[in-house]
Amino acid sequence: MQESRELWNNKIGFIMAAAGSAIGLGNIWRFPYMTGQNGGAAFVLTYVIFVVLIGFAAMLAELSLGRRTNKNALGAFTAVVPGTKWRYVGGLGIFTGIAILSFYSVIAGWTVGYMFKTIGGVFSHIPNAQYLADVFTGFSANPVSAILLHGLFIFLTVFVVMGGVSKGIERWSRILMPLLFAILLLLVIRALTLGAGVKEGLAFYLKPDFSQINAGTILMALGQALFSLSLGMGTMITYGSYISKSDNLVSSAASVAFFDTLIALMAGLAIFPALFANGLNPAGGAGLVFMVFPMIFEKIPGGMIFGAGFFILLSIAALTSTISLLEVPVSYLIDERKWSRKIAAIAAGVLAFILGIPSAISQGASDFFSNLPLIHISFLDFMNIAFGNYALTIGSFFIALFVGWKWGIKNAVKEVEDGNPVFGYRKMWSFTLRFLAPICILITMIYLAWTGNFF
Ligand code: PFF
Repeated sequence: MQESRELWNNKIGFIMAAAGSAIGLGNIWRFPYMTGQNGGAAFVLTYVIFVVLIGFAAMLAELSLGRRTNKNALGAFTAVVPGTKWRYVGGLGIFTGIAILSFYSVIAGWTVGYMFKTIGGVFSHIPNAQYLADVFTGFSANPVSAILLHGLFIFLTVFVVMGGVSKGIERWSRILMPLLFAILLLLVIRALTLGAGVKEGLAFYLKPDFSQINAGTILMALGQALFSLSLGMGTMITYGSYISKSDNLVSSAASVAFFDTLIALMAGLAIFPALFANGLNPAGGAGLVFMVFPMIFEKIPGGMIFGAGFFILLSIAALTSTISLLEVPVSYLIDERKWSRKIAAIAAGVLAFILGIPSAISQGASDFFSNLPLIHISFLDFMNIAFGNYALTIGSFFIALFVGWKWGIKNAVKEVEDGNPVFGYRKMWSFTLRFLAPICILITMIYLAWTGNFF
C-alpha cells in the first residue's frame, strides 16, 4: 500500500528537522575525535573551508534535486534519467544509510549508558584521568550492555520513523536542540576557565600547524564536513522532497550549515582545553569525549544534573540523526517497492541492528573485531571511515556531477529560484558542482590511492 507523501508543516519545521539530522554525534563525538587524530587546528581549518566551499553547495544540490523530483534517494535519479546506471549512486546511498546507522547507534548506545552512569554517581568523584579511561574501557568492552543499548537505540529510531515525517521528526527536533546548545555553552565556559593546560589546548585546537596536512587528513576533513552535514547519501534529497515549493532553499541550507558547524566548533572548544588540562592524549580515539566531558561536569556545581542532562540531550540529538539515516532506506522502500512505512522501518532497522553487532563488540569484547587483520583498526573504526568518510565522499562526487551535468545546472538553478528568485550565489554554485568539488575529490582520492594509506 502506498502512503501519500507528507510535507513539513512549515519552513521552520523543515530547518529544525534538517538541523536535527545534521547535528548529532558527528559534531560532538566524531569531530573532536577526528580533530585529535588528524593534527588539530590545521584539520579544523580544512574542515571549515570544506563546509563553506563544498558542503553548502552539495547540500543545496541534494535539496533541490529532492524537491524537484519529490522522490527518495534512488528514485530522484531514476526520475531524471530512467533506466541508467545513475541509480547505483542512490543505491550506494541507501546502503550507506544502513551502514552508518549500524555503528552510529552503538555510539548512541554508549551515550545512553553514560547518562545512567552519571545519574548513578560514577563521575561524582574522579580521582584521576586514568579512572575515566578505566570506566570507559570497562563499559565499552562489555558485549552485553553494548549490544543491548545499540538495540535499544535502533528500536527507538524505528519507533519514531514508523510514525511518519512531520509528526515524528519535527516534534522532537524543535524543543530540544536549543537546550543542547545552552548546556554546551556552559561546558565551553567552564572548560575555558580550568586554568593550567587551557592555553595548550587552545593552541592545539586553533593554531594551525600546516605540516600536519596530507592527502589523508584532507580527505578526513572533507569526510567530516559531509558526515556532519548529512550529505553524500541522499538524506538531504529525501528531506528535500518534503519541502514546499515556496520555501527558500538557499537560506534554509545556510542556516543548517551554520548551526551545524557552530555546534561542532563549540564541542571542540570545550573538549581540547579540558583534555590538555588533564594531560590526556588528543589522539585518544572513539572514547575521547566520553573521557573528557565527565571531567568538566565534575568541576561545575550541580554538575551531575548538567551531566545527565547533557547525555540525555546528546542521545536525543543522535536520535534525530538516526531517524534521518533510517528514513533514507525507508522512503526508498515505500516509494519504489511499495512497502508500508511500518514494515520498511522494521526491516531496515533489523538489518542495521545485525550489521552493528560487530561494531558493538569491537572495543575489546571480541579480539578479532577489535583489531581487524591487515588494517589493524577496530570494526567500528573501519565502518566509520569506510562509510562515514569514503562512501559519503564518493556519493557527493557523483551527486555533484549528476546535478551539475546530467540533470543540468540550468534545471537545478530553476528549482532553487522557486522560493528564492534572487539567487546571487548561482555562478559560484555552478562552478563548485561542475568543477571544484569533483576535481578536489578526485585529486585527493587518487593521491590517497597512490600512497595506499586508506585507514
Ligand atoms: N550528520 C549526522 C551527525 O553529524 O551526527 C550524522 C549523519 C546523519 C550522517 C545522516 C549522514 C546522514 F545522512
